[in-house]
Amino acid sequence: MSNILCIGAGYVGGPTMAVIAKNCPHHRVTVVDINEAKIAAWNSDDLPIYEPGLLDIVHAARGRNLFFSNEIDRNIAEADIIFVSVNTPTKHFGQGAGKAADLQYWEKTARQILENSSSSKIVVEKSTLPVRTAEAMERILNSNNRGLHFDVISNPEFLAEGTAIRDMENPDRVLIGGRETESCHIADPATAEIYANWVPRERILTTNLWSSELSKLVANAFLAQRISSINAISALCERTEADVSEVARAIGMDSRIGPKFLRASVGFGGSCFRKDILNLVYLCEYYNLPEVARYWEQVVTMNEYQEKRFVSNMISAMFNSVAGKRVALLGAAFKANTGDTRESPALEVVRELLDEHALVVLSDPYALENARLDLGALADRVIFEPDPYAAANSAHAIAIMTEWADYAALDYKRIFASMVKPAFVFDGRNILDHRALYEIGFNVYAIGKPSLNHFINNGNC
Ligand code: NAD
Ligand code: UDX
Repeated sequence: MSNILCIGAGYVGGPTMAVIAKNCPHHRVTVVDINEAKIAAWNSDDLPIYEPGLLDIVHAARGRNLFFSNEIDRNIAEADIIFVSVNTPTKHFGQGAGKAADLQYWEKTARQILENSSSSKIVVEKSTLPVRTAEAMERILNSNNRGLHFDVISNPEFLAEGTAIRDMENPDRVLIGGRETESCHIADPATAEIYANWVPRERILTTNLWSSELSKLVANAFLAQRISSINAISALCERTEADVSEVARAIGMDSRIGPKFLRASVGFGGSCFRKDILNLVYLCEYYNLPEVARYWEQVVTMNEYQEKRFVSNMISAMFNSVAGKRVALLGAAFKANTGDTRESPALEVVRELLDEHALVVLSDPYALENARLDLGALADRVIFEPDPYAAANSAHAIAIMTEWADYAALDYKRIFASMVKPAFVFDGRNILDHRALYEIGFNVYAIGKPSLNHFINNGNC
């Protein structure tokens, strides 16, 4: 039996450790955090994050071999393997502000591990980090004169929110990067052994440390690049009466391209894509590769353009003004099946509509509390309404911001009847039946598709 510790009980630390505990009943898994309220929530039935399937797994293992605690020092002292899953947000001050990763939480953790250890340990980077962070981590940890040795391993997490449990239970691959030294030949298998309890060996990939750290940034950059690519094409489709869904289907059937991550949308959100690409851009600048930096930066620029374009399209469709008009945004989460609103395009759309003096109503089944916190002072100018029918009542327009399955199944006849006419629907996720909505009477605007409105001839313009 090993004592596994995870520092950081967030969207990654909580679910990953719950799945490890479930699949490794012979290991004791403890998750610690500085945030006491979060730990209290992990110890309750009202978990701090919404993630399908998570509560069942927590129920199965909590109190058996899964523990959530605020006692960080004691748990460090007792641990054999320490996963570090603290947040690594974009730095907002000093050198590299706006692009580089802010590693202060990370470094604090390294120092705390060193202070509280009386035996050698394996330290696993679970957080997403700039390439070569492990070097700094090793220097801090091995700066002791107590004869302690720390092996630093990179084991980036590839789960996506909303499907975290499925992704962890059945990962495409588990990546483990280690130093090619003698002691790391011991450390690598120890980490791999944990996953081998449920992941087939051929999917456990071992590489050198730097390849592993960099692969995580590159994976996110490639995924986001596909979305920005199809979103760029969606703008061209809107000008040419091509349909972006048809284009995506046609190109996705080429096995060299593949069908995934080609859904045009109002833009990608989430805590990872923007942050990790900007970090990649910063690294390229740091290593004096300006052309490479500009190439990847464009993925983020295109995403910002897509968000802004969505609002511009709303304004021009609604006779060049949304001032004083009630606009109901359906969805606050950055994607379906999560309550997370970090970098959510919905919130960017809220900010832009408020700038235009619209009366914004925001609806979401799980994410309204996070949205309120993320909007800060602007939250006072927004109406938060969990019921989509109440949100749409008396609105000039509704806009789909998150692809919640329930939004495709709403009674749009009822919604249309309650709205100001002419009534508009803007589908930022292309999940609605546009022809049916048009026939109800809506003027329909989707991403990368010809609009269907009642102002010109038979609805096509
Ligand atoms: P999060 O903000 O949800 O959780 C991080 C937690 O770390 C917080 O609860 C915070 O209180 C805690 N923390 C910070 N400093 C601490 C300290 N010194 N001691 C103890 N706890 C401390 O972040 P997250 O979304 O779980 O992301 C964590 C890391 O994983 C990031 O590097 C992120 O890039 C990466 N990642 C995230 C996802 C995702 O989908 N969210 C996926 C893959 C990788
Ligand atoms: C992402 C990566 O997928 C995951 O591997 C990594 O570990 C963390 O970052 P996540 O941000 O949770 O996961 O969700 P993801 O499913 O990647 O979606 C990110 C954003 O892109 C969402 O806003 C989503 O709606 C959007 N998206 C996704 C599109 O707009 N179109 C697509 O085709 C796919």
